[in-house]
Amino acid sequence: MALTIINHPLILDKLTRMRRQETSSKDFRENLNEIGQLMAYEVFRDIPLTEVEITTPVAKAKGQTVGIPVVLIPIIRAGLGMTEGIQKLVPTSRIAHVGLYRNEETLQPVQYYAKPTEEMDKSYVLVVDPMLATGGSGAKAIEIAKGWGAKNIKFVCLVAVQEGVDKLQKEHPDVEIYTASLDPKLNEKGYIVPGLGDAGDRIFGTK
Ligand code: PRP
Ligand code: URA
Repeated sequence: MALTIINHPLILDKLTRMRRQETSSKDFRENLNEIGQLMAYEVFRDIPLTEVEITTPVAKAKGQTVGIPVVLIPIIRAGLGMTEGIQKLVPTSRIAHVGLYRNEETLQPVQYYAKPTEEMDKSYVLVVDPMLATGGSGAKAIEIAKGWGAKNIKFVCLVAVQEGVDKLQKEHPDVEIYTASLDPKLNEKGYIVPGLGDAGDRIFGTK
């Protein structure tokens, strides 16, 4: 499935603020939320609509409403920081959670939490995590979502590298990937270069 790089100037400006090492945790969080909101505008472009009859103060009219349940699945922790902005655009969306951390030695994802929502099989599902590095966490979260019955899934991140994109496309070829940047490489510790460091630590002020 396709990789879409959403490189709108306002997103790139905010991403550059986030990359700077001197950016505070507060500014990092605010910019991440705002980027989530801006990206959602593009990601939801194909969301199905239902026609409804309405009455304006002037006349009867036909309108459109979002015609399918929306489920956001943040990968805890860092995915939480991007979810609020997306939910602002679709306030009726439900949130399921997947908790994963990367083992620092093996870089393999370790699962510690998973909580689905109802009607996952009928929903338009976004798995959300700012970082797509080796792709282990993203692939695992999508596997969990599919185990809950999700069929219509997109993966939304902020910074990706080709290695992570390749892993998702190989293991989940049906899942479209959206990112704001495709960075050049991973370093020997599995961090994205230049990236923005440890997203979870920067969002939550840990370390
Ligand atoms: C980060 C990030 C992703 C994962 C990406 O989480 O938020 O979930 O690493 O790396 P991968 O593509 O190589 O799997 P981390 O494990 O640091 O946990 P945290 O969000 O709790 O800080
Ligand atoms: N997880 C992060 O938070 N940052 C990276 O660069 C890679 C994985």
